[in-house]
Amino acid sequence: MKPTILAFETSCDETAVAVVHGDEALSNVLSSQVDLHSRFGGVVPEVAARAHVESIRGLTHQALSEAGVHPADLDGIAATAGPGLVGALLVGHSFAKATAWARQLPFIGVDHMEGHLMAPRLQFEEFTPPAVVLLASGGHSQIVHVTDWGEYQTLGSTIDDAAGEAFDKLARAMGLGFPGGPAIDKASEGGDPATVRFPRALPDRPFDFSFSGLKTSVVRFIEKAVAADELPSLPDVAASVQEAIVDVLVDKTFEAVDQTGVLVVGGGGGVLANRRLRARFAEEADKRGVTLTMPDPVLCTDNAAMIGVAGAHWLSVGRITDWAENADPSLIL
Ligand code: KG4
Ligand code: ZN
Repeated sequence: MKPTILAFETSCDETAVAVVHGDEALSNVLSSQVDLHSRFGGVVPEVAARAHVESIRGLTHQALSEAGVHPADLDGIAATAGPGLVGALLVGHSFAKATAWARQLPFIGVDHMEGHLMAPRLQFEEFTPPAVVLLASGGHSQIVHVTDWGEYQTLGSTIDDAAGEAFDKLARAMGLGFPGGPAIDKASEGGDPATVRFPRALPDRPFDFSFSGLKTSVVRFIEKAVAADELPSLPDVAASVQEAIVDVLVDKTFEAVDQTGVLVVGGGGGVLANRRLRARFAEEADKRGVTLTMPDPVLCTDNAAMIGVAGAHWLSVGRITDWAENADPSLIL
């Protein structure tokens, strides 16, 4: 049975609602709070929670109407249970649970990172275990060996900053604004990634990442180059910075592909929207003849369809969430 699910995602700064039928998104709408937070240079948790409260009802109507689905046609309701900002999570989680309770529908609390991990299912029938998936967002970076749905072996993760966090901090240091990932992606257009070779930190463990040292070396490089009046163009610097992050993400993910011998590689999380990363993933997958299941950028950044597809999966195998369970801001995949 392919369940029809109404799904909510409010873990950070996007209020997102979707209707999903099995692995298919019937609608996927969101209201981004980027403009609200950009003047603060980052997400303000209290502002985020309030904005979710304001937009969640309207978006729910929009998602149902765009999907052409009546609430009576729903089989279940899913929402992000964590990780994320506690106030923000509680808005979507409580709204979803209350709606499910009122309509006597099962409720499924979904791990946000499992949502990112399952997002490729929305676009690729070939995305089945065993697979290696790179998850890289604002708060997490990990390489996961998916041996079955729900069986996730984290091969490595960041020992300090997440990849998205590194993009955000570097963009701030370069005066490029918030959020940093898209800003660096855009600024790097036409730039030569080989202009400056920034260090690639390679922690002892083969699949772990470390990004916290990169910012210092970029800031030092810019200061020295300015003093010597030898600063390369912005596209060249941005492309070089981006390459330093992309290189390690790609190298380690494909090292995991080689070592596990999987034939399917996927990705999820906002950083996977990066154009350079996507191009490099495509090249490496092609070289090895493995199937690349990288969803469109809108399904990599936060959205509710990914929560819906995970919710539909768990409902279809009968795993639903107890009413007593609450959101958990520090949930671990
Ligand atoms: O998954 P996501 O939308 O939210 C979290 O769960 O954190 O990821 C957000 C992160 C931010 O750090 C943002 O700068 C980064 O993803 N990001 C990008 C791009 N688009 C978003 N990083 C690099 N290139 C992009 N095009
Ligand atoms: Zn996310």
